[in-house]
Amino acid sequence: MNEKTNVTANDKTSNQQKIAQLHEKKAQSLRGGGVERIEAQHARGRLTARERLDMLLDRGSFRELDAFVQHRTNDFGLENQRFLGDSVVTGWGTINSRLVYVFSQDFTVFGGSLGEVHAEKICKIMDMAIKNGAPLIGLNDSGGARIQEGVVSLGGYADIFLRNTQASGVIPQISAIMGPCAGGAVYSPALTDFIFMVRNSSYMFVTGPDVVKTVTHEDVSFEDLGGADVHAEVSGVCHVASDGEAETLYLIRKLLTYLPQNNMEDPPEVESGDDPLRMEAGLDHLVPDDPSKPYDIKEVIKLIVDQGEFFEIHAAYATNIVVGFARLGGHAVGIIANQPAVLAGVLDIHSSEKAARFIRFCDAFNLPLVTFVDVPGFLPGTVQEHGGIIRSGAKLLFAYCEATVPKLTVITRKAYGGAYDVMSSKHIRGDLNLAWPTAEIAVMGPDGAVRIIFRKELAQAEDPEARKAELVQEYREKFANPYIAASRGFIDDVIEPHETRPRLINGLEMLANKRDVNPPKKHGCIPL
Ligand code: HXC
Repeated sequence: MNEKTNVTANDKTSNQQKIAQLHEKKAQSLRGGGVERIEAQHARGRLTARERLDMLLDRGSFRELDAFVQHRTNDFGLENQRFLGDSVVTGWGTINSRLVYVFSQDFTVFGGSLGEVHAEKICKIMDMAIKNGAPLIGLNDSGGARIQEGVVSLGGYADIFLRNTQASGVIPQISAIMGPCAGGAVYSPALTDFIFMVRNSSYMFVTGPDVVKTVTHEDVSFEDLGGADVHAEVSGVCHVASDGEAETLYLIRKLLTYLPQNNMEDPPEVESGDDPLRMEAGLDHLVPDDPSKPYDIKEVIKLIVDQGEFFEIHAAYATNIVVGFARLGGHAVGIIANQPAVLAGVLDIHSSEKAARFIRFCDAFNLPLVTFVDVPGFLPGTVQEHGGIIRSGAKLLFAYCEATVPKLTVITRKAYGGAYDVMSSKHIRGDLNLAWPTAEIAVMGPDGAVRIIFRKELAQAEDPEARKAELVQEYREKFANPYIAASRGFIDDVIEPHETRPRLINGLEMLANKRDVNPPKKHGCIPL
């Protein structure tokens, strides 16, 4: 007998046995659905739930919860198949030393299907993420509702949907689709802020190819119906598509560097080593003389932001507008820019909605908005009108109007018509509105304007074409410049393009303590 601690040899043995039992249970839980199913997962070219978490999180930072949870179903033979932890791995860890909550669905257990306890595990983590103010990342790889559990699993989904909605605007929510995600299961990722997808390995759809065939007689593959490229280019459901799981997980880590932990925090400042006073002579010659000639606004963005690093969101969707995150003098910002290289940068249904959603995310999470404007207006035509461009354009307008974060605007060339008002103009609480000398701020382009105002004169002119050219030139000289808007104070300053970076950084610092509020309300009625 050990006098000092009163521990007997028996106690020691018993404790060792209990610890050994714990080790065995933990090892069992780590094996998920077993070696064979892990091999099958690898054979599909996919990582396991745990391998993904290892890759996503800082090394050794993962702390698991609920590794001993088991399902409670006793039907359809499930009573003979219980796996420790069930079909999802949950917990928390760090990314670049900052706390995140995670869940990772385990396809090796019942195809990652979501039953009662799977949902309970996710809900527990979501509640903790909301309460403690840290991002939630969900890695999705699941056959959907666990069929054997029936309505209980549907209820589990709804419990998650409710939390997704409550967490919206409170903590950043990121979803990665790493395998199947079908049926109502798609709505949890769809309620989150960003969806990442892996090319040729993940898919999302409400109804699969078989149902599509039965209902609409269309023959379509999984990839063509709901693969990463389709959702990144056509539907816009996917924000970032990438090649391979490792790249997807790396990009999630990268995205988080721009975001605060929650809506009560400011985004992190990161010293980039790029001189805040850096002038960029290349900008002085980027805008072509001919106003109908395109140029790439991404070149402008990259020349201005820290180290030329731009994290683009929706890079392949509605490419006539560009949105994404960058840093200016170490301050994270959201950038919105018309893209003259695609459809002359015109606003249409998809680009309006893409930008509106991005703006609302930035506003919710205290990211200042930097807008580059070169927009000829809204896209005309029956497709757009009948598709509801009025409603979609109003969403963009609404998003800019309600945003209270610092709003900085640079008009590089065209700002015509309603699109001038929409694109973060002074009138809708733009804080610092700058224009390059190449800016043309007018109700419409010279051609259209002359055709309307001088219709009668042109009809009677001896040489209508020559007279029109004269009038266009006259209009251009008079109106197609930034000085009339500047004389009204709608533009705060006309700057040389090369000084844009220092001017924006200075503006951000001037606005660092900006406070602005909207009238008290339950919530606005954005025209959805
Ligand atoms: C229970 C499931 C399951 C599910 C897969 N499994 N999905 N078990 N409920 N929903 C099991 C399979 O039976 C199999 O078990 C194992 O997981 C692996 O599945 P496989 O079919 O062998 O894998 P694979 O060939 O890769 O096909 C993957 C799949 C397919 C395409 C996802 O399994 C599939 O079609 N599953 C059903 C999808 C579905 O219809 N889900 C319901 C959607 S409706 P064994 O033991 O045989 O290896 C829905 C409503 C949600 O989700 C509503 C929320 C509001």
